[in-house]
Amino acid sequence: MPASSRSFPAGFLFGAATAAYQIEGAAHEDGRRDSIWDAFSRVPGAVINGDNGDVACDHYHLYRDDVALMKSMGLQTYRFSSSWSRVRPDGGPLNPAGLDFYKRLTDELLDAGILPWLTLYHWDLPQALQDRGGWTVRETADLFTEYALDMHDALGDRVKVWTTLNEPWCSSFLSYTAGIHAPGHYSTAEGLLAAHHLLLGHGQAVNELRARDSSLELGITLNLTVADPADPSDPADAAAARKIDGRFNRWFLDPVFRGEYPADVIDEIRAVDAAAVDAFEAAVHPGDLDVISTRIDALGVNYYHGELVGARPPATPARSGDAPTDRAAASPFPASDGIYWYDRGLAQTAMYWDVQPEGLTRLLRRVSEEYAAAVGTVLYVTENGAAYDDELVVEAGERRVHDADRVDFLRGHLGAILDAVEAGVDVRGYFYWSLLDNFEWAWGYAKRFGIVRVDYESQERTLKDSGREYRRIITDRALDV
Ligand code: NOJ
Repeated sequence: MPASSRSFPAGFLFGAATAAYQIEGAAHEDGRRDSIWDAFSRVPGAVINGDNGDVACDHYHLYRDDVALMKSMGLQTYRFSSSWSRVRPDGGPLNPAGLDFYKRLTDELLDAGILPWLTLYHWDLPQALQDRGGWTVRETADLFTEYALDMHDALGDRVKVWTTLNEPWCSSFLSYTAGIHAPGHYSTAEGLLAAHHLLLGHGQAVNELRARDSSLELGITLNLTVADPADPSDPADAAAARKIDGRFNRWFLDPVFRGEYPADVIDEIRAVDAAAVDAFEAAVHPGDLDVISTRIDALGVNYYHGELVGARPPATPARSGDAPTDRAAASPFPASDGIYWYDRGLAQTAMYWDVQPEGLTRLLRRVSEEYAAAVGTVLYVTENGAAYDDELVVEAGERRVHDADRVDFLRGHLGAILDAVEAGVDVRGYFYWSLLDNFEWAWGYAKRFGIVRVDYESQERTLKDSGREYRRIITDRALDV
């Protein structure tokens, strides 16, 4: 294949992503109050090393430098999230001082010629709302919609691309059922209720924002996977792969694109926890699924790796990517349901996640063909990235990080996107996760995903080799020239 065919289509956007709690710090400034992650980080054993987001990358104070860094890398767009507990500290009345930060950040981005891409919810629910039931209660979806409109009042003239939720699978099942993320609960019913109310909040916010301004580009970001059966000729393994596909992918894609929850997944849960399904079904009011399936302009796909699963215990089990904290539970669905993860011998990142770029090509094709293309929704890869045990070296007085593995990871996944584009998929952009090393949730600061290294003592930033390679790719708009 000639090198020139590795060019990116005109208009393809190159960006990087972050999230408020993971980078901002300034947890107690300008009227911000606790989010569920502030509270959860204080629970002994919840986060490795007892880390928290009090300071993080101090981006709240250093955002000008960070935007200058983005500009120097040639980033065309920056995906960030707003902290609900900065903007409406108790989930209720507006806090103008907190809101102001996002105005300053947006202006700085626009001055630098960088397209601001705003995510409204990246997991940091105000703790005051959690005290009233959090996402398990319907009121939270309504308050989320009000918060979305506040953000639009402040930024609607300057921010044109809006994502409602980031990875609702994590903020429902991983948070309310598996106990690994805040608020750290272990309830199947709560996970199901949270997932429904998150999606309801998404649909309501899209409808309200669209009613205000039909020029906005609106969407949701889902964490999606590719589940392969260990032995494709074995019906039990194929069934295991389909179950994983249902729990991770179809549970969110089906309501958003088809206005229905997957019946096979509901039946599966009913068999082990009928009361949870009863509670969930009672929470789904007539008309909810019409709201949830309101048309979106853009679907954000977050892809890190696929899964190889089977119905029998493997000789070599896959290692877990869950933080080994005191709280880590098994699957967000009832344990011992006969699904096993296999190790396929691929290279892995420091999260023990397989490096599997071809999975991204298959995922984009599948999501486009089965869901998005028919309704004219375009795709963006809103997250993809890798943690490695980077080392900082000083060479001729210059700080460098030679993260060759991350360079390969980045190039491999951009190549996989080009493969999807060549197969006809309408994918319009890529965001590396993450711009900066940051607070990796239950892993704390132990895992570094950035293309920019952060020294948490001095807050010094160092562009890694991966950041340099990304800058080169963006300049050439091609993988190789
Ligand atoms: C997905 C999440 O959106 C982000 O917050 C997280 O840091 C990355 N994955 C890496 O785990």
